[in-house]
Amino acid sequence: MAPPQDPIANVQTSSEGEERAISSVLIIIAMQAEALPLVSKFNLSEVEDSVFPKGVPWIRYHGAYKDLEINIVIPGKDTVFGIDSVGTVTAALVTYASVEAVKPDIILNVGTAGGFKDKGACIGDVFLATDVAFHDRRIPIPVFDQYGVRARPTFSTPTLVKELGLKVGKLSTGDSLDMSSQDEELIRANDTAVKDMEGAAIAYVTELLSVPAIFVKAITDVVDGDKPTAEEFLENLSTVSLALDQAVTRVVDFINGKRLSDL
Ligand code: ADE
Repeated sequence: MAPPQDPIANVQTSSEGEERAISSVLIIIAMQAEALPLVSKFNLSEVEDSVFPKGVPWIRYHGAYKDLEINIVIPGKDTVFGIDSVGTVTAALVTYASVEAVKPDIILNVGTAGGFKDKGACIGDVFLATDVAFHDRRIPIPVFDQYGVRARPTFSTPTLVKELGLKVGKLSTGDSLDMSSQDEELIRANDTAVKDMEGAAIAYVTELLSVPAIFVKAITDVVDGDKPTAEEFLENLSTVSLALDQAVTRVVDFINGKRLSDL
């Protein structure tokens, strides 16, 4: 049995078979700058443990916050280039390994993103994604084309959306910060409000492993605006991370004491 201070096994229902309150939340974040304020907010500690393969840069922070066990996992620094390991490949890997290790009741994928002003996005807005899709997996063969885009609705949280008053919209994921004209075509076809580099990959893994996932994305740059994306992203990263952290704290406070069906 897992030690009480770091339980990695849990059950979905009470012994009477009733749905129980959410007790374990796993938060996956691509960038350290986005994660560290939440690590201190929730008073988590870095865990040097063997739940991940030896030598990987992935970092797990763990602790108790209110009635919840919280794990924040980040993919850490790329072993060759020394910068945050953003993108779909690492996101899928750390999500898979973390779910297997931690067995969470729910996952939050939290991060910064680009927003489309023609869908109502402004710098500093925080969105909950209603749907996810990929925009850079083009396979023009019947059914493979849909597999590539993999447009899927996310776990529905109507009460959370209503109570917290966050914006909602569709999220589209690709491995580039910029947007090619081919990416744009798919993004527009999917009615996208928010563009990131991890969400749909995490959704794929969480769907595979049957764990509900919520996507909380704060807007650092306006994709259909005038400023170059990379410049605007770097300019706004630290201030928007604060807005993101406040929103995530509200989401976690809301989840505390609730069952999945209350969300
Ligand atoms: N993260 C922040 N801004 C982004 C953008 N424009 N595209 C993808 N990921 C992002």
